[in-house]
Amino acid sequence: MKICFIGAGKVGTSFGLYLSQKGFNVVGYLSRSFESAKKAAHLTNSMAYKNLSSLIGKSDIIFITTNDDSIENVVNQLSQARVLNKGQIVVHMSGSYSSSILSDLEKFGCYVYSMHPLQSFANVENSIKKLENTVFTIEGSIEKMSVLESVLKKTGNEYFKIDSNLKTIYHAGACVISNYLVTLMDFGLSFFSSIGIDENDAFKAVYPLIEGTIENVKNLGCKNALTGPISRGDINTIENHLNSIKVNIPNKLSFYKIMALMTLDLSSKIPSQNKEKIEMLRKILQGVDS
Ligand SMILES: NC(=O)c1ccc[n+]([C@@H]2O[C@H](COP(=O)([O-])OP(=O)(O)OC[C@H]3O[C@@H](n4cnc5c(N)ncnc54)[C@H](OP(=O)(O)O)[C@@H]3O)[C@@H](O)[C@H]2O)c1
Repeated sequence: MKICFIGAGKVGTSFGLYLSQKGFNVVGYLSRSFESAKKAAHLTNSMAYKNLSSLIGKSDIIFITTNDDSIENVVNQLSQARVLNKGQIVVHMSGSYSSSILSDLEKFGCYVYSMHPLQSFANVENSIKKLENTVFTIEGSIEKMSVLESVLKKTGNEYFKIDSNLKTIYHAGACVISNYLVTLMDFGLSFFSSIGIDENDAFKAVYPLIEGTIENVKNLGCKNALTGPISRGDINTIENHLNSIKVNIPNKLSFYKIMALMTLDLSSKIPSQNKEKIEMLRKILQGVDS
């Protein structure tokens, strides 16, 4: 199976190298700049191309690994050049778009997919190690899905298969976990800075808490990793939080309450929780003015 890449950046180069190390035949790269294509080709022992038709003609699977905003552009180039052949597989690796961004290419008899690595790649060296433990998410045409599955089975990577129409929900979830977790930490640190503690000092001090919490989630799952006043049912503590936030940092109150209510929902899934206390806490959290 011959594989090529359009877009010789971090993901295209790393994934190409990973595939060639796993025994796949990476035939070459084409990129916006010939320099990038040459670098990736050198690393993967393949060829750098300037011309779409020579590269596409040699490939069974074509990975489009440009930045997201350029995918459509590449689709247009491929369409206009009329270089695709019946039965070829075209895949992009973006998390935010589904395979539908490639659907114009189906008129050439191609099969289109997205194959998203749930990982962040800052450079090629670190990415190869990371790829070993990366889970992928794939969606697209049913007909040749088994080909992509066989690639991931051969590399030894686990994968989710999802409904193409729900790719955006998948991506939103990934953004909540990786981006909004950062926002949540920043929100917590702002409580410290509001009482005069330097934010950098606060971050150093709470970092072991963050690590410990992540470790607990890893070992116990979300629900069982919960600690603190809500999971203990300490009603007075939560009332004190609400009153003090309302007086000192009122602009933080509404988000605090949303998070507390979500935490209460999570906590209520633990069978041993006191249902009466949970309902009392819910009323308190819903009743305080924001
Ligand atoms: N990085 C991550 O953490 C990560 C994680 C998961 C998924 N992804 C996805 O992987 C894809 C690639 O991301 P990346 O981080 O590897 O981006 P990147 O490092 O910025 O690389 C993008 C490459 O695309 C090339 N390019 C841009 N427009 C092009 C065009 N019209 N024709 C040919 N080549 C073009 C650029 O070429 P030149 O260098 O030649 O200018 C650049 O090397 C994206 O869809 C992204 O969403 C990234």
